[in-house]
Amino acid sequence: MSDVMQPVRFSSVEVPNRFALAPMTRTSAEPDGTPNALMADHYERYAKGGFGLIITEGTYTDDKASQGYANQPGIINDQQVAGWKTIVDRVHSAGSRIFIQLMHAGAQFQANRYTDLPQGPSPVIPKGAPLGFYGDQTEWKTPEAMSESDIQAAIDGFALSAANAKAAGFDGIEIHGANGYLLNQFLSTHFNQRDDRYGGSLENRLRLVTEVVDAVRKAVGEDFPVGIRLSQGTVTDPDYQLPEGEAGFRKIVEAVRDAGADFVHTTDGDVNRQHFTEGNGSLASVAHQVAGIELILNGGIDEINCQDVANQFPGTLLAVGKKALANPDFVQRLKDGKEIDDIDFAMLQPKATIRNELAWREKNAA
Ligand SMILES: Cc1cc2nc3c(=O)[nH]c(=O)nc-3n(C[C@H](O)[C@H](O)[C@H](O)COP(=O)(O)O)c2cc1C
Repeated sequence: MSDVMQPVRFSSVEVPNRFALAPMTRTSAEPDGTPNALMADHYERYAKGGFGLIITEGTYTDDKASQGYANQPGIINDQQVAGWKTIVDRVHSAGSRIFIQLMHAGAQFQANRYTDLPQGPSPVIPKGAPLGFYGDQTEWKTPEAMSESDIQAAIDGFALSAANAKAAGFDGIEIHGANGYLLNQFLSTHFNQRDDRYGGSLENRLRLVTEVVDAVRKAVGEDFPVGIRLSQGTVTDPDYQLPEGEAGFRKIVEAVRDAGADFVHTTDGDVNRQHFTEGNGSLASVAHQVAGIELILNGGIDEINCQDVANQFPGTLLAVGKKALANPDFVQRLKDGKEIDDIDFAMLQPKATIRNELAWREKNAA
C-alpha cells in the first residue's frame, strides 16, 4: 500500500495521501443552511480517519433556485461562511485538506427554502422518482426553463460562493457538473431541449459549464485549485449516455480545462466502466489522456482495487464514497491492515442524515 499512502502535489496543494472522501449529501445543516457542530464532528471524523482530502457534500450557491434538499448547507451569507470556517479549521487541524463542492440542483429539486419553483434548462423532469433518503417528496415538479437572466444569476451564485469558500479557508473548489444536477442537465440531451445558444450542439450545451468554470476561476484567482465533477449518468438515470460518445466527453474535459479548471473528478458506477455510445474507454481513461488537467477518480474504489487504480492512473486522487461511510477510518484501517466493512444502507434510513448514521453506529457498536 506504499504508493497510495504517498503524499501528492495536487493542483497547488500538498495532499498527504491519494485518498479523498467523495462528496456526500447528509441533509444535516440547520434549516437555514448553516453548517453546524454535528457536521464539524462528521468531517473531522474522516480527516482523523486518514483521508488526505475531504470533499464536502453539494452546497448550494444562491438564494434563488440552487438549493435542492431540506437541511442542505449553503455558502451564500456570513453565517454560512462562519459555519464552514469551523469545519475547515477542524479538518486542517487533523492534517487534511478540504475542497467544497458547489452545487445547483436545477430540475433535480426536492426542497428549497427560497422558492417553490425549480429551474432547469427546459421544462423537463428527471427520470424515476425523487430520492426518499433526502426528503419526503414523492413527485418531481416541472421546472421553469431558465431565461438568460436566470442563467446569469446562477453563474453569479457560483462565483460569489467560490469567493466565500476561499474566504472560509477552503483549499479548493469542486463545481458539481455531474449526477443530474443543473450543469449536468445542460450537457444532457434528456434535460436540455433548448434551441438557443445554450442548447442543441455539444458546443452550445457546454456553454453554461464553461461560463461557470470561468466565473469561478475569476472569483478565486489563478493559484487556487478549481475543478469540476463530471458524469454521464444521473442519480435516477445511471445509464444515460452522451450521444457524442467518447470524443464528446474528451471535448468536455478539454473545454473545462481551457475555461480554467485544474482538475476533473470523474464519477461512474465503476471507475473502469466502459459505457460510451462510441469508443471503448472509461470516463477515467478518456480524461487521463487529456493533457494539462489533473484527475480525481470515483466509482467502486475499495481496499482491493485501490492500489491497481492508483498504478493505472498515476498522480490522481481516489475518491471513496460508500466504503468511507462504512469506515470513516478507511485509510487508517488500510495502513494498519485492519478489516474494512461493507456499507449497511440502514445507516442512511429513513433519511441520510448524520444523526441517523450515528444512531446506527451506536446500535451496531457491540
Ligand atoms: C449518501 C450519499 C450522498 C451523496 N451525495 C453526493 C453529493 O452531494 N455530491 C456528489 O457529487 N455525489 C454524491 N454522492 C455520490 C458519491 O460521491 C459517489 O459518487 C458514489 O457513492 C459512488 O462512489 P462509491 O462507489 O465509492 O460509493 C452521494 C452518495 C451517497 C451514498
